[in-house]
Amino acid sequence: MDFQWYPGHMTKAKRQMQEDIKLIDLVIELVDARIPLSSRNPDIDELGKHKSRLILLNKADLADAEKNRIWKAYFCEKGYFAVELDARNRTGMKTIQHAILESCREKTERDRRRGIKNRPIRAMVAGIPNVGKSTFINTYAGRACTKTGNKPGVTKGKQWIRLNQNVDLLDTPGILWPKFDDPDVGMRLALIGSMNDHLLNTDELSLELIQYLTEHYPGILSARYGVDENNEKPVDILNGIARNRNCIRTGNELDYGKAAVLVIDEFRTGRLGRITLETP
Ligand code: G4P
Repeated sequence: MDFQWYPGHMTKAKRQMQEDIKLIDLVIELVDARIPLSSRNPDIDELGKHKSRLILLNKADLADAEKNRIWKAYFCEKGYFAVELDARNRTGMKTIQHAILESCREKTERDRRRGIKNRPIRAMVAGIPNVGKSTFINTYAGRACTKTGNKPGVTKGKQWIRLNQNVDLLDTPGILWPKFDDPDVGMRLALIGSMNDHLLNTDELSLELIQYLTEHYPGILSARYGVDENNEKPVDILNGIARNRNCIRTGNELDYGKAAVLVIDEFRTGRLGRITLETP
């Protein structure tokens, strides 16, 4: 992943989505299950009003299983349909198919009363960069689908993927940009790898992560790195990780920078365990 956020890109993507959304019945919004709120762009609620809404808590395999359930209940309570997902894995797809049909049930019934039968649900996938939109489309659509080409009466150039007799999916996802006026939101997005690392202070980021883990997942760092967590400051724990993982610079000094990158990387890839960074 290597993207930069330029205001021009954002405006263009938003305008595109405003156009595309007119063509669809259902917005399938992907969020990162490790930060389900921070990885949403609040504009989606305005853009997607009057549409059926399905939230996929993606990368659920990397997030805390218990928290996944809490987040799912949270979104359901707010009136969305919500499903946990590992988009790289086809096993969740049956559940999604069911959720798509459920989320559009009112519309389907309205159609039926008007005598419109068997019109497929038109859906689009949306979410912030790197949340798994392309992976989801590829896995869900798989090889079985056929591109249905342009539909009469809709904007030229739109490609639809016929998923099955019930669902057509717009093949280009809607890209939304995260909002991070709140520094904590920015920090969480940085931790899951949603920003260019070379723009980040990884030392500071790792200290924030260590602080969070000692508070919310006590024992995880000591189990993985053999460090003492009790009454230790994050910087001392990082020190211990550098020592125990042999992060050494020339001159035999501890290399904190290397240890910082190591901890962040092991969090991102799930080697530290299944961790969620925010709760409702
Ligand atoms: P985007 O279209 O929304 O920008 O995201 P994309 O599908 O490109 O996915 C971004 C990264 O997230 C990819 O990893 C992808 O494999 C990974 N990913 C997507 N869904 C899941 C999921 O449910 N669980 C986990 N653990 N990972 C997921 P990458 O490292 O950028 O690429 P690659 O190594 O897979 O090639």
